[in-house]
Amino acid sequence: MSIHQDGPTGVTTEALHRRAAELDRQDPLATYRDHFIGTDTPLSYLDGNSLGRPLKRTADDVAAFVRNEWGGRLIRGWDEQWLAMPQAIGDQLGRAVLGAAPGQTIIADSTTVVLYKLLRAALAAVPDPDRNELVLDTGNFPTDRYLVEGIALEEGLTLRWIDPDPAAGVTLDQVRQATGPRTAVVLLSQIAYRSGHLADLPGITAAVHDAGALVVWDLCHSAGSVEIGLDGADVDFAAGCTYKYLNGGPGSPAFAYVNARHLPALNQPIWGWMGRKDAFEMAAGYEPAAGIRGFLSGTPAIFGMIAMQGTLDLIEEASMAAIRTKSVALTAFAIDVFDAWLAPLGAELASPRDAGERGGHITVDHPDFSKATVEALWDGDVIPDFRSPHGIRVGLSPLSTSFAEVLDGMAAIRDRLQG
Ligand SMILES: Cc1ncc(COP(=O)(O)O)c(C=O)c1O
Repeated sequence: MSIHQDGPTGVTTEALHRRAAELDRQDPLATYRDHFIGTDTPLSYLDGNSLGRPLKRTADDVAAFVRNEWGGRLIRGWDEQWLAMPQAIGDQLGRAVLGAAPGQTIIADSTTVVLYKLLRAALAAVPDPDRNELVLDTGNFPTDRYLVEGIALEEGLTLRWIDPDPAAGVTLDQVRQATGPRTAVVLLSQIAYRSGHLADLPGITAAVHDAGALVVWDLCHSAGSVEIGLDGADVDFAAGCTYKYLNGGPGSPAFAYVNARHLPALNQPIWGWMGRKDAFEMAAGYEPAAGIRGFLSGTPAIFGMIAMQGTLDLIEEASMAAIRTKSVALTAFAIDVFDAWLAPLGAELASPRDAGERGGHITVDHPDFSKATVEALWDGDVIPDFRSPHGIRVGLSPLSTSFAEVLDGMAAIRDRLQG
């Protein structure tokens, strides 16, 4: 089969190339791509939802930090600036990305650790002993499931599993059915890590509250790809990664959001000196710092915060509304290319077709896809990721991905299937 063969949809390869070029020409965010390292090469990066590309600015910001602040100010840097960064950058993230008023968001730990702390804090905020169920879903990211399973063991609680359609995600009806007078806390991802399904965050949050329970949202795949109104939806607790769409770099710290309503009685389980009031008094006994600062445990990771600050500045300038519009256009284009090239070869779309239910990535399943397929793509500088049992996940980072890059990457996936 020639690589120029067209699918039964009748869209020619030339037409797809023309369309990609036209979409790039009309893209109001197209110039943002120039801010990222490596976007001037032919490499097709389809995994910014695992690890975002670095900004060019980050190389300069980190070098300047090492030379001037770390190198120049030494330990004085903590008092002068660094100790305030988890809250200052948390507030910027809240404003630019999360729809959260100041004082509720902080940068700390890793997502896994933050989720553990939030889940325990949520449980502490539900003192009713009859509420002994934790609700979770089989499609959630492994760390989320393991955490809830571990906490259920620690606390003697019961797990109530939702089993979503793997090509979609958790629905409002499923949450209504799974929650009730025994529910304490519900943990869900706003965007499913495999299918890219975008959950109804406001509707589900309201349903959990109607059941008298609290909700913790994992925003790893939504922070920086969709508009999120945490305050508007009255979300209780939320957490997410900063190394995906926020480009904080490998292992950059996570963020935690605690609704102001829960802050006065916030009871998180890892009592460290950084979360204590007057940390440097080093006094006997733990008394939490007031507000979101009491969520901290240990010394903040400064490098990742420097890197993510560059992206937060870009997001504020571009606006999340424009970023979401481009994200929808990118995934819609990827689905059109899927229909033209991959569906005729027996691939299945394991993601929602409805843009209102879709986040920033799609997954394509084919019985012939394996880790080896993705390794071969990586060798050819086309970089999606593999999701078992036989899925290729195509992640489209709105600020750094071009439509031509999507087309090139999907052409390479098609060529692998054609053998
Ligand atoms: C949806 C989701 N939740 C949680 C995590 C875990 O994050 P971390 O490894 O930074 O703790 C990830 C990591 O990719 C993720 O994608």
